[in-house]
Amino acid sequence: MAFRNDALAGRHIVISGGCGAIGLGIVKKLMSHGANLTVNDILSDQQATDRLRQKGIDVSKINYVKADLTDTHETDRLVDTARERFGVIHVALCHIGMVIPKPLLEYKVEEWDETMAVNVRTAFLLGSAASRSMLEDGIQGQLIFTTSWVADVPWPEIGPYNASKAAMKQLMRSFARELADQGIRANAVAPGIVSVGLAKQQWDTDPIYRTRAQKAIPLGVMQPLDSVADAFLFLCSTAADYMTGTVLLVDGGCSLYPMDDA
Ligand SMILES: NC(=O)c1ccc[n+]([C@@H]2O[C@H](COP(=O)([O-])OP(=O)(O)OC[C@H]3O[C@@H](n4cnc5c(N)ncnc54)[C@H](O)[C@@H]3O)[C@@H](O)[C@H]2O)c1
Repeated sequence: MAFRNDALAGRHIVISGGCGAIGLGIVKKLMSHGANLTVNDILSDQQATDRLRQKGIDVSKINYVKADLTDTHETDRLVDTARERFGVIHVALCHIGMVIPKPLLEYKVEEWDETMAVNVRTAFLLGSAASRSMLEDGIQGQLIFTTSWVADVPWPEIGPYNASKAAMKQLMRSFARELADQGIRANAVAPGIVSVGLAKQQWDTDPIYRTRAQKAIPLGVMQPLDSVADAFLFLCSTAADYMTGTVLLVDGGCSLYPMDDA
């Protein structure tokens, strides 16, 4: 996507789960367009530094904050630390996610709780804390949630994940509805079956998943990381200023897949 290299100059963007496979691609893309990035993850400082460096990211320009965002106080600490380093927050990306692949009837309740806590609770906590900071600072900011095409399609053997992404979608719409008159927008990016991260791990280790996924991508190839990062670049840019309450579906047509043929 052709955006000027200074398209995000002066913008402070906070991303949770930013040292994951997709997060690193987003961080690199947004930095290369001039944004200041506060990157959160649960990794140690050293692990995070190693991952960021391996991706060719200039770590000296990053504000890395190790914090477990299932915890309210840790989330508040992240937001406070972010404001201390780079000033007011313009955009918060609620990006953490996990999946436990197995048939629905084999899920333990603890696994359901963990999936909901890591995917939905962290999004609620960061969305809330970032919104409060934007209101305090008088910023017309934006929240962006990473959902998935499976928010609307019951992809087999990840039922609680599907449900968590549907919850995040409606959470996003609720933030958008309640905060619009205070100048805060909320949107989501819904990727497809990406060539890195959670889906790639399943693709590499589970032949049944791989066979099903190979049939499920109308455009024929796993989703390039850059196409996900580009969607974030667009939403973070002024080109998306009139958008709120929207899911930007970038899934290569996966959601068109006729599930009866799975
Ligand atoms: N990979 C795909 O095909 C795909 C498709 C659609 C949507 N998504 C979504 O994209 C996002 C990133 O996925 P990914 O594939 O890069 O996964 P990933 O596992 O590589 O990245 C997730 C990151 O979140 C961090 N994290 C987990 N729990 C945390 C916590 N409590 N506090 C702070 N950080 C925490 C992890 O350490 C990890 O670095 C997720 O929301 C996922 O659901 C992925």
